[in-house]
Amino acid sequence: MKITYLGHSALHLEIKGKHVVVDPFISGNTQASHIDINALKADYILLTHGHQDHVLDVEQIAGNNPDTIIISNFEIVEWFGKKGLNGHPLNHGGKKTFDFGTVKYVNAIHSSVLPDGSYGGNPGGFVIWNEDKCIYIAGDTALTLDMQLIPDTCPALDLAILPIGDNFTMGYEDAALAADFVQCKKVLGCHYDTFPPIAIDQAAAKQHFEAKGKELLLPGIGETISI
Ligand code: NI
Ligand code: MN
Repeated sequence: MKITYLGHSALHLEIKGKHVVVDPFISGNTQASHIDINALKADYILLTHGHQDHVLDVEQIAGNNPDTIIISNFEIVEWFGKKGLNGHPLNHGGKKTFDFGTVKYVNAIHSSVLPDGSYGGNPGGFVIWNEDKCIYIAGDTALTLDMQLIPDTCPALDLAILPIGDNFTMGYEDAALAADFVQCKKVLGCHYDTFPPIAIDQAAAKQHFEAKGKELLLPGIGETISI
């Protein structure tokens, strides 16, 4: 599985030859101006919740990838459906197997309203797995004991993608505890440094994880890691 960090919480995944975009917020992120949105391939677009900083570029990417399927909660899929976009709705605790793997929509503690003020359902995260790998994308969330259910209900994680920017989500200290809850030593940090309220000390965050025997990956925007 290849994972490209696109800044903020946006990711591009390559899984079993399929292209999956997660929470695209690129055109609104001045730090991601070198990312060419129009070059992004997307067989699927996964959306954790309805906030603008997670859905901003969905329509542009879907316009370039007319067969793309949006995977999110029921309300968000319905909202994009009214704009003519295809989707597959999930709700919390539900999973579905697609041609790249199984996707489970799991709990997050946050809020979710769509950019026009429409109800965006309840926010969530995703666990994605196939016979090779399993990853957890927490979405915007507080630390929650619900994370402890993930090791009991999903395959062992190879990577957890967790928000670390504090203020609107967990900070890195809570994210290190979240890594314990989901039983994963390898974490990719997201949702930090995009805006002043979520600026962090990256070296301190990495040290904090290291002291707890964990690894915090902070790839540059546009950088790809393989797991
Ligand atoms: Ni949010
Ligand atoms: Mn957010």
